[in-house]
Amino acid sequence: MPFKHSFYNLFMKKMVIRILVLFTVLLQFKMLTAQQRAIDKKVDSVLRLMTLEEKIGQLNQYNDDWRATGPVTVDNDKANQIRKGQVGSLLNVLGTERIKSWQMIAIQSRLKIPLLFGQDVIHGYKTTFPIPIAEAASWDLDAMELSARIAATEASAAGINWTFAPMVDIARDPRWGRVMEGAGEDTYLGSKIAFARVKGFQGNKLGDTNTVMACAKHFAAYGAAIGGRDYNSVDMSDRLLWEVYLPPFKAAVDAGVATFMNAFNDLNGVPATGNKYLQRDILKGKWGFKGFVVSDWGSVGEMINHGTAKNGYEAALSAITAGSDMDMESRCYKKNLVQLVKDKKVPVTLIDDAVKRILKKKFELGLFDDPFKFCNTGREQAALNNPAHAKAAREIAAKSIVLLKNSNNLLPLAKNLKTIAFIGPLVKPLKQNKGFWDIDIPGIDSNFIVSQWKGLQNKIGANTTLLYAKGCDIEGNNREGFAEAVEIAKQADVVILSIGERRDMSGEAKSRSNINIPGVQEDLLKELLATGKPVVVLINAGRPLVFNYTADNASAILYTWWLGSEAGNAIADVLFGDYNPSAKLPMSFPLSVGQIPIYYSHFNTGRPATSDDKHHYNSSYNDLSIFPKYEFGYGLSYTSFHYSNLQLSKKKMKIQDQVEVSVTISNTGKYDGEEIVQLYIRDKVGSIARPVKELKDFSKIKLNAGESKTIKFVINKEKLSFYNQQLQWVAEPGDFELTIGASSKDIRLKEEFELVK
Ligand code: BGC
Repeated sequence: MPFKHSFYNLFMKKMVIRILVLFTVLLQFKMLTAQQRAIDKKVDSVLRLMTLEEKIGQLNQYNDDWRATGPVTVDNDKANQIRKGQVGSLLNVLGTERIKSWQMIAIQSRLKIPLLFGQDVIHGYKTTFPIPIAEAASWDLDAMELSARIAATEASAAGINWTFAPMVDIARDPRWGRVMEGAGEDTYLGSKIAFARVKGFQGNKLGDTNTVMACAKHFAAYGAAIGGRDYNSVDMSDRLLWEVYLPPFKAAVDAGVATFMNAFNDLNGVPATGNKYLQRDILKGKWGFKGFVVSDWGSVGEMINHGTAKNGYEAALSAITAGSDMDMESRCYKKNLVQLVKDKKVPVTLIDDAVKRILKKKFELGLFDDPFKFCNTGREQAALNNPAHAKAAREIAAKSIVLLKNSNNLLPLAKNLKTIAFIGPLVKPLKQNKGFWDIDIPGIDSNFIVSQWKGLQNKIGANTTLLYAKGCDIEGNNREGFAEAVEIAKQADVVILSIGERRDMSGEAKSRSNINIPGVQEDLLKELLATGKPVVVLINAGRPLVFNYTADNASAILYTWWLGSEAGNAIADVLFGDYNPSAKLPMSFPLSVGQIPIYYSHFNTGRPATSDDKHHYNSSYNDLSIFPKYEFGYGLSYTSFHYSNLQLSKKKMKIQDQVEVSVTISNTGKYDGEEIVQLYIRDKVGSIARPVKELKDFSKIKLNAGESKTIKFVINKEKLSFYNQQLQWVAEPGDFELTIGASSKDIRLKEEFELVK
């Protein structure tokens, strides 16, 4: 019976492999818990030796003497305080030499407890990647994990052991400048990205020399600041908080994030920093988070401005009670915690808990064994000059560019064009490409950044002439450069116009009420179009802008965000078709600020508006469309994709069961390309109103021209659940609509199924 025999062998082989895998997992788990127990013991033994002042010192974080995002207190005796064990961490210290010098002082303290060095490594250290919202547009989780991995490799080689990233705040208001730092408006996509970024920063395990601690911020709901004004209050229902704003934070916890940062905003009147519900009940309680929470810059002291604390004493009491473990820069802990303990307002056990959480991370990072572990000048040099990092930055930058318009298939451009006019205020600058949170590393100039001009020069052949004119500034109304720009446009086969925001126009404290393309840049476009030449517009920005003139009149548009140090090469790759654009918008782009906040997963309302022509007592604007200019999930390709054959494994699903969904995607165009296939679900009738659709899965697939692939999704109870009126996470029996789309609006296929008990 040879057949039976080989089947048996195969079966045995599989069993053996399974047993081995299980055994290895168990062994790893045992080793990890043994390591954790050993670390806990060490933490306890250090804690026993500490005075109250030394304990409070660990909860105190200072800025170095430059680079600040808030008011800086300059202490002349910082070194002395560190030597006395009164500081647990520093931020904004750059370069191994300087980090080493502070660490040397720390280990002169009585208990030789090393410092943690934190830094906003948001989209790269030296090698700069696209700003986070741009990377989110790639929907490429592996690429985002890789960019965080590389950022961590460079930062940790430069002495840093803690990044204040990822920012996982959901944001639905592009007036808020910090949309540039997150993953956009959607909870499902945002949670996947949060997970990938934490994994990327933290690598295999803390303690490896190429990892940094990640920090999920800003806990919580900071992205919902009223009116899009930074630092403003947030007022939201618990249901919205749990369903939309908290899941990316939970995903970060699931990925093993080491730290959290709380937030500047108050949530329903309670400042996040003094918010026990958020930090103790949810984060450390329900979610079992074992790391520590750092305040945002000065946010402990800012509770006095919020009007929830009379002075620093009350602010410190509120923050430590609520679960904020480390005080970034406000000095309220340093000045008041001893007294608060003496006054029996704060039990020492509360301080001990915070100290233990911080010491534990110092042990896990290996800083007690070697405080200079991350300060190796040789490794720093090698990591900061690794060509593989630039290559990865170029690839993800190309993946982040969104093709918004391509009339008459103007793009990709032919490589043998005779003359190209490259015009605009963003063509030649280097640093504008880096975006808001770039890091000015001392001793490193900007020459490694590939300007858009250089990128195009690198790409074109000897027979193509590249002409340049600046045309105008980013801001202001000076039109003097228009004539020169028009002149070179007339000589060209095609015009490429690079316009947008300055890199400090989106970011922290960069809220704007007018999010049009600034200055006279669109007027310049008007003049260039009057020449009759085709104009490709590159829009560089940190947020969704409003640009209706450009959208309606330009021949082609690429939304290039701020793409980082390889911007120029990546843009050229896309313009000439060496990379076929695949990105899709992670945020809705409004037609006008009057529509904000605007997001695809809204409720239907009792009087839904379905078209812009009918305003008769329904939920619409009388003077403005209800539809965004570009919807969530939108983005074109040089090729076209056809969706067919949507199949569900069953039409009735039992609650513990699952439905398998399959759909065939065909590349029907001339170019190889990637498509982001999006799966949306609508719960048609619920005990509370449910969104008109919610993203519940997606798949980014590569298809050669002419190729077809069938992809599969799985629908389970989790994907059908929501928070009901009692805030229970439930899936309610009933009918569901499942749609498959190329965007949240461009729905290609539709099916229904029923969830039964
Ligand atoms: C920001 C944080 C940042 C911190 C340190 C604050 O102003 O809100 O996101 O990590 O500064 O730079």
